[in-house]
Amino acid sequence: MGANVLAIAYNKRTHRCGEPRSTDLDKPILLTGWVNSTRDHGGLTFVDLRDHTGIIQLQVNPEHGVAAHETARSLHNEDVIAVEGKVISRGDRINPKLATGEIEIEVTAMDVLSRSDALPFQVNDEFDANEDLCLRHRFLHLRRPEMQDIFRLRSRVGRAIREHFHAEGFVEIETPFLTKSTPEGARDYLVPSRIRSGAFYALPQSPQIFKQLLMVAGFDRYAQLVRCFRDEDLRADRQPEFTQLDMEMAFVQRDDVMIMVEGCVQRIFRDGLGIEVPVPFPRISEHEAMERFGVDRPDTRYAMELCEITEQVKASDFRVFNSAIEAGGVVKCLVAKGGESLTRKVLDGLTEQIKGIGGSGMPYTKVIKSDAGVEFSTGIAKFIKPICADLCKHVGAEAGDLIVFMPGNYADVCKYLHFVRTKLAQTLDLIPKDRWDLLWVVDFPLVVWDEEEQRWFSTHHPFTAPLDDDLHLLETDPGKVRDKAYDLVLNGIEMAGGSIRIHNTEVQKKVFALLGIGEEEAKEKFEFLLDALRFGAPPHGGIAFGFDRWIMLLADAQSLREVIAFPKTQRAVCPLTGAPSDVADEQLDELFLKVKAPPKS
Ligand code: AMO
Repeated sequence: MGANVLAIAYNKRTHRCGEPRSTDLDKPILLTGWVNSTRDHGGLTFVDLRDHTGIIQLQVNPEHGVAAHETARSLHNEDVIAVEGKVISRGDRINPKLATGEIEIEVTAMDVLSRSDALPFQVNDEFDANEDLCLRHRFLHLRRPEMQDIFRLRSRVGRAIREHFHAEGFVEIETPFLTKSTPEGARDYLVPSRIRSGAFYALPQSPQIFKQLLMVAGFDRYAQLVRCFRDEDLRADRQPEFTQLDMEMAFVQRDDVMIMVEGCVQRIFRDGLGIEVPVPFPRISEHEAMERFGVDRPDTRYAMELCEITEQVKASDFRVFNSAIEAGGVVKCLVAKGGESLTRKVLDGLTEQIKGIGGSGMPYTKVIKSDAGVEFSTGIAKFIKPICADLCKHVGAEAGDLIVFMPGNYADVCKYLHFVRTKLAQTLDLIPKDRWDLLWVVDFPLVVWDEEEQRWFSTHHPFTAPLDDDLHLLETDPGKVRDKAYDLVLNGIEMAGGSIRIHNTEVQKKVFALLGIGEEEAKEKFEFLLDALRFGAPPHGGIAFGFDRWIMLLADAQSLREVIAFPKTQRAVCPLTGAPSDVADEQLDELFLKVKAPPKS
């Protein structure tokens, strides 16, 4: 066989690598794939051949093909080959770990279609190499079976979603990427205009305004799997560009959207994981979520709820509690069942973490058995000893438990106890596996006051409608106005958020005014929306799912980076392409742009 002459018609595969079974014994076969590993047993060479369907063992024996055997001995991992041969039984050498483990291929011919250089990391390795290295060679990383599974799951779920919405009469419409700022609370990614020098497009943080315009345009039901762009601090569940399942419906109330979404979520679980989730999902108000869990996206897979103890601790003479109460704050606690087993080191570590996120510490005590019933044993025990029995009764603490206290203003207490609750649940292994707790959080405050900036901000976005019952408070007591928003939470992660929108120009103007968006600014930024509302806007509402987040949870992945084919790092960099990167002076000249020297850091 000459160096570049191929004997095998590689485009005529008979099977994928994971497909042949013992029912195919003696059948002629043509396979292509990547060399997963090779083992040279002197006379015989074994090659594990891999494609996205699985691995199959090739047995290359010079008796059946001298040239093939020679080629097999020259192989390196990740070379691409084509082989011909027939299916034979492995006899008693069955490999139960492989779906093809009962058979192997007796190879008669082999072509190398492409060679692989020395690898930066092994594709067949179970352990992840350094993430940066994996991302730099993402094409290799994606070859791993577990990565292939994730992207096939992603594709399956995307298809299920599309099918659901098409079946329900939704129209798929694309909205622009080169557009104007959309207020979802993050920074915009800007794109300079060449034709109008000095002007910029913004990449959409969401298609929010366009989907509302589509309702005014009479489309009635719109849905789109769409890329969104947000320049914000990145975390494991945030990427600068991510995909939303975005939808909007006309002539609907909250329930209509929520029921539609529940059907879609059922479909996602059915087609994605083969699981039936019961509907309707439980609903709780934002107020109740904060009271019980300290957060508006509670993980309800485990208990350990927050207890208000402001009244009870007034009887103690613990200065930390009393000064918080005198300053108008509260004292809350949570009881970790069996938390007595936690070591001083673990609790001190948690205290340091609380300090790391802005808190001043974490007073706690352990509850132990005593002659009188129970008593406090560690930490702040001596300060609160007198109220021990009452307190334990009130919060349901028993011997063997740990109580963590948090005094301070309401928002801080919620924030820190939510943090403690999450950490303790992990440490004490309280989070059940394979459980899917879906719930709706509703009745959010329409706006929240920002002490630093001395102004109101939307809890969601400025187009969210206030609850009808609270409309009269819009100008007199805005902090008390609840909205018609709904967030869908799954195992403590916000998976989707939406609302019924304002479809009345006057109410929209009032909300803009409340948010400090003056008439001029409203005209400049949202004139097209205000205009549209004046020309027969139907009542409408919708929602957007964080599509990547769904896949992350369904695939049991730890980060969005695992479920996005070519993701960015925490520093918003793509190690594969090197983006963002410098551009040529000529490109800047064309745009009349000049780059300022970045600050030295
Ligand atoms: P919201 O801003 O809540 O609503 O976004 C909807 C959902 O998108 C996901 N998400 C993200 N996923 C990955 N990376 C990010 N940086 C990121 N930011 C948000 C979350 C979130 O629940 N226009 C409104 C929706 C509406 O009102 O219809 C919107 O965008 O899962």
